[in-house]
Amino acid sequence: MVRHVDLELEVSFERKTLAGAATLDIERFASGAPLRLDTRELTIGRVEAAGSGEPWAPVAFETGPADKILGTPLTISLPGGAARVRIHYSTSPGASALQWLEPRQTSARRPFLFTQSQAIHARSWIPLQDSPGVRVTYSASIRVPKGLRAVMSARMEGGDGGLFRFTMPQAIPSYLIALAAGEIESRELGPRSSVWAEPPVLARAAREFEDTERMIASAERLYGPYRWERYDILVLPPSFPYGGMENPRLTFATPTILAGDKSLTALVAHELAHSWSGNLVTNATWRDFWLNEGFTVYFEQRILEEVYGPGRAAMEAVLAWEELQRDLARLPERDQILNLDLAGRDPEDGVTAIPYLKGALFLKSLELAAGRARFDAFLRSYFDRFAFQSLTTAQFLDYLRRELPEATRRVPVEEWVFKPGLPSSAPRPAPAEAFLKVEAEARKWLEGGAAAAIEAGGWSTHEWLHFFNALPEKLDPGRMGELDSRFRLTQTGNYEVLQQWLQMAVRNGYQEADARLEEFLTTVGRRKYLRPLYEELMKTPGGQRRARAIYAKARPGYHPIAASTLDAIVNP
Ligand code: BES
Ligand code: ZN
Repeated sequence: MVRHVDLELEVSFERKTLAGAATLDIERFASGAPLRLDTRELTIGRVEAAGSGEPWAPVAFETGPADKILGTPLTISLPGGAARVRIHYSTSPGASALQWLEPRQTSARRPFLFTQSQAIHARSWIPLQDSPGVRVTYSASIRVPKGLRAVMSARMEGGDGGLFRFTMPQAIPSYLIALAAGEIESRELGPRSSVWAEPPVLARAAREFEDTERMIASAERLYGPYRWERYDILVLPPSFPYGGMENPRLTFATPTILAGDKSLTALVAHELAHSWSGNLVTNATWRDFWLNEGFTVYFEQRILEEVYGPGRAAMEAVLAWEELQRDLARLPERDQILNLDLAGRDPEDGVTAIPYLKGALFLKSLELAAGRARFDAFLRSYFDRFAFQSLTTAQFLDYLRRELPEATRRVPVEEWVFKPGLPSSAPRPAPAEAFLKVEAEARKWLEGGAAAAIEAGGWSTHEWLHFFNALPEKLDPGRMGELDSRFRLTQTGNYEVLQQWLQMAVRNGYQEADARLEEFLTTVGRRKYLRPLYEELMKTPGGQRRARAIYAKARPGYHPIAASTLDAIVNP
């Protein structure tokens, strides 16, 4: 088993490659057995091995047939005493974890590179055992062109003249190894956190994230000490394919959450919560993904409740319920199960509202059955008991039954975890006070009231999203125009609201939003936003023509992870 990874890599923007060597410290269970690693599209040069304290010697290796989902196995023959292996390699320009940005795609107008290793893309830039059940410490020295800086999900040991060094002393799964390089600067947010971004974005990001220390402190009050020394946030260029990624010590975040009013900072609470659920206690396989995400959504909601009060938490809970209902209506039964069957599938097929929101709701129902104080104590001891370990669903259920026997008798645990849909006892969130008024305004308008009469003064993202949810699927484009002239929705800088609005615009043929839609699709790379928009476009022949025309322009700017999902939608 691989225990430590040391990387020496050079970042070349001309060749779009990382090139150098990975040195793996291994612990062996059968002395004659070969070492089998995961790779994808790596060009392997020499491979060497050494016993502890002995010199390097070349060894034989073999690459197996490439699998579309899993990539290419690399099998290395090892002499009995070998304890370290060194692989000289370079990545391919199309590596699935990497996005190489042209200067025009960034706000600093400089080249930018970043990785996205989850779920199984680490193997496209590092040869290793790419399973969340294997944990490694790592160290790295990264060479970048002059004037650029490298950052990683690790302790930053300094750097100058284009060479940056990092160590990660805590054992983490491979999907949390992360690297970014670009014109990146930092500003302090609190005693143990900074935000990193390109200079033109930095001040805005620092303001948006100023509550970060309060979030860390509240998370610690809930579930115990923050164990990763620092919690920094890196704001990426808009092509980042996710909202956020919980890379340890350095959350990666999309700039689309910089709304100016902190209304989208739930994402920070979420990625921070992963410092416990996910990074400390990790899903052992991608079938157990809900252990990462369900716990994190539950934890995120608790942080938000502490930091912003029960009003905001109540709104987030209702919106989550609405989103879960939509996904339950759309997904086949086998994909509605928490403990997913992923045989023969890409683990990313499991990224739906089920692990996130059904998972969180299951924990909420346990909280209600056990009582909050009891459940909090349970979670706290769970994080302690399994810290720095990877865990399966079965192991969690054993622990749960042992520690909270009364609650598991009152909650239909098997049904939650192994059956589709929701148990009839699933706790429906209480109506959020602020939303009653939103619903009343929606009703008045739907009954023919004027858009000018809608009282939306002071509505935040949450109220707008709920307002949209309260409208019927089909709306007359003229009526959409009334809303638009009153509230300038097509021009909003709030991407969460904008994405929903554009989806409604496409569905209802509201052409005044066409230009903004095209601008959105060609600048934003967040897959969760893009997928529904392209799917909506593909529903009509005219929309298909537009989707293909826009996609041809936009695709070169998307991360490979987003592009591969969208290829299947736009050019099936
Ligand atoms: N770890 C996930 C992102 C992820 C999941 C990447 C699966 C690759 C495969 C991250 O914590 C996440 O859930 N991000 C969400 C935002 C969150 C607020 C729900 C996202 O990106 O939308
Ligand atoms: Zn998450």
